Amino acid sequence: MENSPLQVLTVATAPYPDQRPSSSGLRKKVSVFQFKRSYLHNFIQSIFSSIDLRDRQGSTMVVGGDGRFFNRAAIEVIVQMAAANGVGRLIIGHHGIMSTPAVPCVIRKYKAIGGIILTASHNPGGPDGDFGIKFNTANGGPASEAVTSKIFQISRTLEKFAICPGLRVDLETLGKQAFDLENKFKPLTVEIVDSVESYANLLRNIFDFAALKDLLSGENPIRVRIDAMHGVLGPYVKRILCKELGCPAISAINCVPMEDFGGQHPDPNLTDAAELVDSMRDGSFDFGAAFDGDGDRNMILGKHGFFVTPSDSLAVIADNIFCIPYFQHSGVRGFARSMPTSTALDRVAKATKIEIYETPAGWKFFGNLMDAGLVSLCGEESFGTGGDHIREKDGLWAVLAWLSIISTRRRSVEDIVKDHWLKYGRNYFTRYDYQNVDLDAVCDMMEDLEIMIADKTFVKQRFAVKDKIFQVEKADNFEYTDPVDSSISRNQGLRIIFSDGSRIIYRLSGTGNDGATVRIYLDSYEKDLLFEDTQVMLSPLATIALKISQLHLRTGRIGPSIIT
Ligand code: G6P
Ligand code: ZN
Repeated sequence: MENSPLQVLTVATAPYPDQRPSSSGLRKKVSVFQFKRSYLHNFIQSIFSSIDLRDRQGSTMVVGGDGRFFNRAAIEVIVQMAAANGVGRLIIGHHGIMSTPAVPCVIRKYKAIGGIILTASHNPGGPDGDFGIKFNTANGGPASEAVTSKIFQISRTLEKFAICPGLRVDLETLGKQAFDLENKFKPLTVEIVDSVESYANLLRNIFDFAALKDLLSGENPIRVRIDAMHGVLGPYVKRILCKELGCPAISAINCVPMEDFGGQHPDPNLTDAAELVDSMRDGSFDFGAAFDGDGDRNMILGKHGFFVTPSDSLAVIADNIFCIPYFQHSGVRGFARSMPTSTALDRVAKATKIEIYETPAGWKFFGNLMDAGLVSLCGEESFGTGGDHIREKDGLWAVLAWLSIISTRRRSVEDIVKDHWLKYGRNYFTRYDYQNVDLDAVCDMMEDLEIMIADKTFVKQRFAVKDKIFQVEKADNFEYTDPVDSSISRNQGLRIIFSDGSRIIYRLSGTGNDGATVRIYLDSYEKDLLFEDTQVMLSPLATIALKISQLHLRTGRIGPSIIT
């Protein structure tokens, strides 16, 4: 019967041992979620069970994803399980799509207790690609370590899950749908929302849209090229940059979200966004940007493809922060960067006497500082930049931040960056990634490295490459004590800091999926040699980094898989 209440079932299951979410969620091959019996159900149940029943019952939750393969199928299950777990109202993105930065905005707008984001960020999509599930809490940001470990603990002993298998939600029609459930359960309301509009509203309150409109479509407009890489941001770019700010259609490329991102890696870097870089070479565009699959990462380019490193981008935004009206009103409480990010931001903080925090890699660490009102702007070398308007990094926000600076200063991207180096000196920064290497080999390498750098004799040791001599000043395994809740995060990367401020950092990636990924970060500071080639400038440091770690010998590789 059509109108009879929907049945709520409890289904027996067996736990999986490998459902430990990181701050960027649980990421696995699509096939794991799709074909391992109840794998998806188990994890979703663990999320719901981690929320106290009193908080969960009748609560509002947000659901959306980056549109990758399995997005829709997963949403159907999540809705059925949310209903059976007592959630009262679900706010879901139109077609099941919502960018990662839009999720916190919608969580706050609807006063939700949290949100479930279906994304594997910049990892490839499609049936053979990756899928991921991330849980954000009421502040809008990724769940804290305490919450993610609770989810993991529950998943390890899970014996049953609750579901309403007959519930079918229509993701195509904006507006409310109500579902009656049997027994004691209250009805579930599902609201399909236009997250683009909510998010656009947020940006309107941060930036001067009239000035941006003038810059992009006024008398002497600059020409921009924005690559959504077939990720979730396509509709946001079209609505905000083209429709509202007047950019011509040629400004927006790859703006149709695709389940497999057109077969590419939806990752904004010089290698994966080669199409954008190529289209900028001949100088037809003054400003370029690309985003990742879920829209939180960004890459900024100037005319002829002039590359702004994420670390420089952060420092430049910090130095020009009052070009953004939001900060004129709210003031600037502090800056933060992840440990591997170059220290360019530190120089701005010092000059402006604004407090700076150094956190482990992972956006969640910033969220805590922002909630406590300590930080207003933060960023990471991994192409993440954002303000305290939400608790995620925000790709489109970064683009509008840059456009605001250009609009105020009336200088090109390249000039703005070069001015910055002239003012502060330059941090040359690069990252070597060794992907899909043998986990045991690199764990041994990290262990041996740690023993070596922990030895008292390591400090003051000198390394000479050609005419350069580096003397170790400090070396450790980075450990972070959160100034707000005093929680301690250990093992966050091995650091070697030299007396001239140069740094070598070794870290294992927490987001890769095939084998292990080792990252080596190289950061050096120059006061006078400002316009040299990054790889040439950092080659002595790279030689030392490889020599100390014996990385090539241990992994059988002859070079990094990717250099950013
Ligand atoms: C995700 C997080 C970032 C973090 C990055 C680290 O993108 O959202 O905040 O910096 O992962 O990735 P990694 O692969 O280096 O662990
Ligand atoms: Zn992302």
